[in-house]
Amino acid sequence: MSVPEIRRVGVVGLGAMGAGIAQLAIEAGYETVGREVTEELGTKARDRIAHFLQRKVDKERLTDAERDSALELLSTTTELADLGGCDLVIEAIVEDLDAKLQLFGALERVVRADAILATNTSALSVTEIAAAVSTPERVVGMHFFNPAPLMPLVEIVRAELTSDEAVDAAFAVAARLGKQPIRCHDTPGFVVNRVLIPLLNDCIRVLDEARVSPEELDTAMTAGAGWPMGPCTLLDLVGIDVHVHASEALYEKLREPRMAPPARIVAMKNAGLLGRKSGRGFYVYD
Ligand code: 3HC
Repeated sequence: MSVPEIRRVGVVGLGAMGAGIAQLAIEAGYETVGREVTEELGTKARDRIAHFLQRKVDKERLTDAERDSALELLSTTTELADLGGCDLVIEAIVEDLDAKLQLFGALERVVRADAILATNTSALSVTEIAAAVSTPERVVGMHFFNPAPLMPLVEIVRAELTSDEAVDAAFAVAARLGKQPIRCHDTPGFVVNRVLIPLLNDCIRVLDEARVSPEELDTAMTAGAGWPMGPCTLLDLVGIDVHVHASEALYEKLREPRMAPPARIVAMKNAGLLGRKSGRGFYVYD
């Protein structure tokens, strides 16, 4: 399979992850088209990116001119057809298999036959997503970590039928974004979530077993295990709903009890305590 030189990048879904990926792409000099379902969401993502670029200017990590030229590379749209000229499209929509299958089927109809299609899924099977298109060899996982602009790792996930060329192209893009990519196969949770999800579930169980507060647990893991942020702070950052969904997806595939989300966090999700994004999770946010 021949792959194009990657010049123009599409990002579908401009939530926290998609906006972070689009920010990385424009900072690396890629013309970037971001697609959201409404114009308001597109504008919100552009504002978010502009905010974080401005913070870099304030800290003298970026010049005014670099900020402006990066932002000029970003366009947002509500039309999937506007991704037609992209050499690589990275999907970062909701973690729902049916929604992703539908999107990849539609994407195949608008992008060139040699464009690479990547998914940022964290817990679904890239192979299952690739089955939505007639050319699964060009589908690859590009799994970024939250917050995408700050976390160095990208897992480049090879699905059952992914070509070497697609894996290499995705790896090269991640490196140009300034990341430390690794290659891995399409197994449940890939590398990091396979380890991190049960670990975070254990942390939640410890809250009740050891009868400590979220603050105490966070202190324990930052001061005693060298974590950069405590598990409750991290879960609030990732999103309680995202974590519960990922836990359920891994439990469904691996049937390991530690993968199953503890009742306490499922109750938080059901109550709408989703972490930073809803203003309240383990902690309360302004
Ligand atoms: N997007 C873009 N820029 C951001 C940002 C974001 N979401 N969040 C913060 N920044 C920028 C801000 O400008 C910020 O400076 P400001 O507050 O003065 O404006 C700047 O980055 C630095 O931020 P911090 O001072 O908060 O940076 P720290 O040095 O404290 O490090 C951290 C932050 C890198 C997040 C660190 O705490 C860390 O490594 N935490 C662990 C995170 C982690 O484990 N993530 C993985 C989650 S699992 C996952 O993603 C898998 C998925 O599948 C669920």
